[in-house]
Amino acid sequence: MNTNKIALVTGANKGIGKEIARQLGALGFTVLVGSRDAERGAVAAKELVAEGHDAVVLPLEVTSAESVAAAAATVEAAYGRLDVLVNNAAIIPAGDGPVSEVASDVLRSAFETNVIGLVAVTRAFLPLLRKAPAARVVNLSTSLASFAQVGDPDSRMSTVTTLGYNSSKAAANMVTVMLANELRDTGILVNAADPGNCATDMGGWNAPRTPAEGAAVAVTLATLDKNDPTGHVYAEEGRLPW
Ligand SMILES: NC(=O)c1ccc[n+]([C@@H]2O[C@H](COP(=O)([O-])OP(=O)(O)OC[C@H]3O[C@@H](n4cnc5c(N)ncnc54)[C@H](OP(=O)(O)O)[C@@H]3O)[C@@H](O)[C@H]2O)c1
Repeated sequence: MNTNKIALVTGANKGIGKEIARQLGALGFTVLVGSRDAERGAVAAKELVAEGHDAVVLPLEVTSAESVAAAAATVEAAYGRLDVLVNNAAIIPAGDGPVSEVASDVLRSAFETNVIGLVAVTRAFLPLLRKAPAARVVNLSTSLASFAQVGDPDSRMSTVTTLGYNSSKAAANMVTVMLANELRDTGILVNAADPGNCATDMGGWNAPRTPAEGAAVAVTLATLDKNDPTGHVYAEEGRLPW
């Protein structure tokens, strides 16, 4: 029987998600490497196993109800519970842009992955999270979802005009708060992690932070103690304003 804690990271075949999986693996978790492409997920899991971590690919396309249900059924059959869920998978859709220009389909696709997919995964895995003694949920956020930062004309965030990404991530922040409220009496803590601008396919390869640096805050939130806060967003420097 596997006595490790079990963690699922969505979109863990590359980027910050793979680094979160690696760091949780180093802490002794069995890590389920969520990946919409099973082959690329298997390559990532193999890399982590070669480094000495307990990692297994879990095919998971967050916008597909069938895929989400199948992934939850697989985890239930294999482990009967889930200790940590990291909702990392997200997109900046092609064609994303300012309010005056962005096409409705582009906006829709951002919400489909970054909000509806995130909620669908969370809902499907909640029964398994409830079966763990002290489950944690971490949603990846961004300073581009902060009203305080995007609303500050002196902030670099106010110059980034990807409405689909920013607004869907802001909606995901509300999911974080509302799920934290809903689960407040269960011991399950729900927080959001802003990794900062990291060098990945999404962040751009000239970004100042490494994926490993970006992953660290999510790993901290995935391993909080029982009296730690719930329903907040954190970056490396501490708690952020919504
Ligand atoms: N990089 C940054 O500077 C930065 C800053 C702030 C917040 N973040 C957040 O950090 C998280 C990770 O970002 P990243 O930079 O590592 O991005 P990334 O390199 O583009 O990786 C995104 C991951 O999400 C997966 N994904 C996308 N849509 C999916 C879907 N429908 N179903 C399943 N998986 C899906 C991707 O799979 P494929 O490989 O198949 O596309 C990939 O594994 C995101 O939530 C992002 O918003 C990043």
